Amino acid sequence: MKNIVLFASGGGSNAEQIMRYFSQSKTHKVAVVLTNNANAGVLVKAGAYNVPALVFTKDELNNGNVLLHVQAFNPGLIVLAGFLLKFPADIIAAYPGRVINIHPALLPNYGGKGMYGIHVHRAVLENKEKESGITIHYVNDNYDEGNTIFQQAVAIEQCLTPEDVALKVLALEHEHFPRVIEEILNGSI
Ligand code: GAR
Repeated sequence: MKNIVLFASGGGSNAEQIMRYFSQSKTHKVAVVLTNNANAGVLVKAGAYNVPALVFTKDELNNGNVLLHVQAFNPGLIVLAGFLLKFPADIIAAYPGRVINIHPALLPNYGGKGMYGIHVHRAVLENKEKESGITIHYVNDNYDEGNTIFQQAVAIEQCLTPEDVALKVLALEHEHFPRVIEEILNGSI
């Protein structure tokens, strides 16, 4: 069994898809959900899949405490699924090439500090882009700059609001993210 350690900050719809997908797997499992938000919807979702969940503070993330929790779960892959804080260098250094993130746009455009969730979709619409999409990438010490693993575009010409774009992009995330995680763990990409 290879363990997936999930980090999420909000509603956790990606985390939910990942837990659902791997609840059927004989080779990989979601070992724990870690969140910086005690009110995160992802906590309820983890409970529904009998996945243990831990809440931590920003201080604990940055003082080595969260690294200790992560190590206790012996991760094959650390997955940021809607995790909105800067990921700490100590965890990245402890798991080289084994921390990935999903970003709701086609990087290198619309990435970096402050570019998360609805802010990304608003910027994309303001620039009158005809398409947006998803980027799954390795995490390094700079926001959204690690090597790309997978991208998928979607037409957004019909979208009138950032929320419309978010729905289209989220559907792509749910469709592709669990499979890409599985392929990484299998060593096939
Ligand atoms: C997702 O769209 C994810 O790509 C984005 O937050 C949303 C979380 O949704 N992540 C970022 O913007 C990271 N920079 P979810 O909580 O329903 O999975």
